[in-house]
Amino acid sequence: MLKLLYKPYFGRVKAVYIDPPYNTGSDFVYPDDYAKPLDAYLQLSGQIDAEGNLQTSNPESSGRYHSAWLSMMYPRLFLARQLLTDDGMIFVSIDDREVHNLRFLMNEIFGEENFMQQLIWKRNSGGGNNMKHLATNHEYILMYAKSRDEVGRLRRPLTEKEQAAYKGRDAYYTTLGPYKTFRLEAPLRHQRESRRYEIECPDGSKVVKYWAWSEARFRQWKAENKIVFKRNSNGEWQVEYKHYLNSSARVMRSLLTDMEQTSHGTAQLRKLFERDDVFIFDFPKPVGLIKHLLQFSTAADSIILDFFAGSCTTAEAVLELNREDSGERQFIMVQLPEPTPEKSDARKAGFETIAEIGKERIRRVCQRENAGFRVFKLAESNYRTEDNVLAEDAQTYITHLESTVDPLREGWCEEDVLYEVALKEGYPLDSTIARVAGLATNTVFRIAAPDGSQMFYVCLDAELVPGDVECLGLSKDSVFICRDIALTDTLAANLALQCRLKTI
Ligand SMILES: C[S@@+](CC[C@H](N)C(=O)[O-])C[C@H]1O[C@@H](n2cnc3c(N)ncnc32)[C@H](O)[C@@H]1O
Repeated sequence: MLKLLYKPYFGRVKAVYIDPPYNTGSDFVYPDDYAKPLDAYLQLSGQIDAEGNLQTSNPESSGRYHSAWLSMMYPRLFLARQLLTDDGMIFVSIDDREVHNLRFLMNEIFGEENFMQQLIWKRNSGGGNNMKHLATNHEYILMYAKSRDEVGRLRRPLTEKEQAAYKGRDAYYTTLGPYKTFRLEAPLRHQRESRRYEIECPDGSKVVKYWAWSEARFRQWKAENKIVFKRNSNGEWQVEYKHYLNSSARVMRSLLTDMEQTSHGTAQLRKLFERDDVFIFDFPKPVGLIKHLLQFSTAADSIILDFFAGSCTTAEAVLELNREDSGERQFIMVQLPEPTPEKSDARKAGFETIAEIGKERIRRVCQRENAGFRVFKLAESNYRTEDNVLAEDAQTYITHLESTVDPLREGWCEEDVLYEVALKEGYPLDSTIARVAGLATNTVFRIAAPDGSQMFYVCLDAELVPGDVECLGLSKDSVFICRDIALTDTLAANLALQCRLKTI
């Protein structure tokens, strides 16, 4: 699937978040052979035996424990890098089992110089008393930029709770918003001789201390009435400066200790599915965690990709963020049709695959947030693959050639071919497809990029009527795609002169 995104989304994705299997020994590791039907594919990858029983495929004893996992990750990360915008970033959730290997792998793919941080996320607070040695309460998120130099300042706006602390009002209120005060005294480790000076207090008394600002800056703020003097509990003067809401934003921090935790993720999914009693999906990430990452790394019109989508927490985070800041971010979730375990709560609830769970989550969230989405299922191409026929005699060979004159497979479906053509032309999945009205015989579609910047015509009829094609008013820049078998030599020659003709 990722390969299909290559052309239409090359350099267009602002943030990738992925939460791959952590290689716990019970994860299934798939080779990327998406053209094979699922069963053959699972069998080939050793995940089911000849009887169709699921096998866990990456046991510790295999001797290739890390290499199998890394080989699964490498091509996916490699492709992901190509999809990123120049100022884009990727976040990868991982724990202690593979973090060191993954970091080497990402250094190789993204360049060591583009490493941003190994974020530490506190995933739970208690528990683990049954562990022999210690309880692990955290995991990591490796953060890399496509190009670190292109990434601007990483800041997020304040949350409602943080904003509520800004209560002061002064003459600057209409332009700078409410303010909050902070102590001007420098903490011990930031004390410098050049910033030790005397400040006169309202009662005329003087305090000499190490201050956080230079004297010039202090004088300017004092003149602008942005300095406040307070008495502390000992009756001593405390100097504070005003910090205004409109100029405040939070820097990104490497320790994510006061974030939502794993239990929140489980509760959020249960609430959404209105199933308090079951585990539809094991350990979905909390929405707040992914939202936090996206707040720093995306803008209102960004595209966000998650290709280990699972229950599609990332989609929910994107839609929530859009609601909060009136953004129009778009998400692309990719999930294999991995079967849910037979006796699992998910299967009992009617979900045959993990992809079905993700789809249902997006459906519910879109209903709540009043948003829309499209679902695409990866299938075999509508184009024939070349069969190598070893003909015993000329007639068999001719019959074979005749049967493959049309490159479309038998039983092809119009909508599927239109999307396949669009992707091959580099058009994104949210392109519009509309039938051209007013043509007497042929069915022609106009496929346009969502921003209207480019479009092309496609006709899948077996025969083209010259009058209908004329009605399209094609020009030298127009792209017209039709089936090869629909063209006569004359029509092909004429069309090639009129427009950019392509054939299927
Ligand atoms: C840890 S889960 C992601 C959970 C997700 N972040 C959430 O909050 O729901 C990892 C996902 O990767 C998928 N997966 C496992 N191996 C894969 C592979 N080789 N290629 C693609 N996806 C895979 C699994 O189906 C699973 O849904």
